[in-house]
Amino acid sequence: MSDTIAILDFGSQYTQLIARRVREQKVFCRIYPCTVDPGDLALLSLKGVILSGGPASVYDEGAPTLDPRLLELGVPVLGICYGLQAIARHLGGGVERGEIGGEYGRAALRVEQEGRLLDGVSRTSQVWMSHGDQLTSLPEGFRTLASSESCPYAAVADPDRRIYGLQFHPEVTHSEHGTLVLRNFLGAICGCRGDWTMESFIDSAIRQIRDTVGEEGRVVLGLSGGVDSSAAALLLHEAIGDRLDAIFVDNGLLRKGEREEVERTFRERFQIRLHVVDAAEEFLSDLAGVEDPEVKRKRIGHRFIDVFKGEAERCEGAEFLAQGTLYPDVIESVSPTGGPSVTIKSHHNVGGLPAELGFVLVEPFRELFKDEVRRVGQLLGLPEVILKRHPFPGPGLAVRVLGEVTRERLDVLREADAIFREELRRAGWHDKTSQAFVVLLPVRTVGVQGDARTYGHACVVRAVTTEDFMTAEYATLPHDLLGRVASRITNEVRAINRVTYDVTSKPPGTIEWE
Ligand code: XMP
Repeated sequence: MSDTIAILDFGSQYTQLIARRVREQKVFCRIYPCTVDPGDLALLSLKGVILSGGPASVYDEGAPTLDPRLLELGVPVLGICYGLQAIARHLGGGVERGEIGGEYGRAALRVEQEGRLLDGVSRTSQVWMSHGDQLTSLPEGFRTLASSESCPYAAVADPDRRIYGLQFHPEVTHSEHGTLVLRNFLGAICGCRGDWTMESFIDSAIRQIRDTVGEEGRVVLGLSGGVDSSAAALLLHEAIGDRLDAIFVDNGLLRKGEREEVERTFRERFQIRLHVVDAAEEFLSDLAGVEDPEVKRKRIGHRFIDVFKGEAERCEGAEFLAQGTLYPDVIESVSPTGGPSVTIKSHHNVGGLPAELGFVLVEPFRELFKDEVRRVGQLLGLPEVILKRHPFPGPGLAVRVLGEVTRERLDVLREADAIFREELRRAGWHDKTSQAFVVLLPVRTVGVQGDARTYGHACVVRAVTTEDFMTAEYATLPHDLLGRVASRITNEVRAINRVTYDVTSKPPGTIEWE
């Protein structure tokens, strides 16, 4: 069992970032809600606990508190921001609103005493602060390691009890030596070996899959052509060979060449048994006359389950269903507002195929982040085009043909989209954007082509950059590239006579138009 760090989530927007930083140090970690029973953490492999920040004030009604048993697990504890305040409050230190009402943004950290936590950190460096409250006095046994202009206790430690605290956020890249501080905590203080690599993950995942599936078991897998399901297909294939059946549903809403690429990659190159189900007719007839994007999503979702189920039933003896579910989908995070969040688009609240299908689930990536899955795929030989593929929504081009989806309009969009993506790659911009596509508008515009008046379709070219797809910025593509795209689309796709570029960020826009 790998060394494990438990991260307790007090509601910070940075909790997942802490986890990623820990894993970058090749140390395995899991995120738990701050209400977890500390008894559940007392594993042999537990090497340390990190308490995240959070939006509350320790004095707010119902604010999460520190379970004292966390300090008795016999492993070092690091409190970050709210995590530190919760520790201080419990141990009798003072916590109050800062003199100037908090500190947000960059601050200069002055090291007073390195200790093991700040070993190697320069005397002054930049850190990232984001707090309303702060410590006004230390609990007994603690000493100050560093301070900032408005925060006398920016880094503190009780080395005897192995309790540490940071008022700043080491997980944020603006904290100059943040990675070093975390590395000191994980290595010098917790004694983690840093041997959790994707190579070791693959070995143990293969063993686990074989244990679960047994000598004879058969597995079906829904392959979309995206990174997650593609990497899952290769991993499963390594583990159980031809007892894997991959199912790819052609819903008629795919981009140009997508189906062929999946066939080439998985059937020909990796020799995986691939079932391609051509269900375009069914999907398109479900979509006839539908304009509302949520209705489109629902109908597509239902039809997908139906088609998948039908094909899976043809895979005789399959009891297991493999899915590329990722860690961010399974983390039980603390909602700072305490209430359910609003549904913006229905897909954000659903994941995977429903349990009623009756399969036993195999989810080898349940503990991995996206970049880790990409690394797994790379190690297993997944081609670059798939590794670097932009995410593509399940309902596909149906949410990019605004208004009613017809075969003709899909064909028009497919051609325009292919041109845009081809030019983007050619100009070296594909990998600099996170998602890039064309949207077909339900309006017509007047144009003039070859001396004749036209009344054609208008389309939107959209390209964004983003880290997490929760917020995004429009990509600042060069004008000459945009000009080339517009000219090619209007020349090569007869039905389109106008091309526009979307310069909206998210928020207030979303990435997709529907
Ligand atoms: P929005 O448009 O909400 O999208 O900013 C955020 C990310 O989610 C993708 N997206 C979807 N993915 N089914 C999916 O599987 C959907 O219905 C869906 N709608 C949006 C979108 O492409 C972006 O990556």
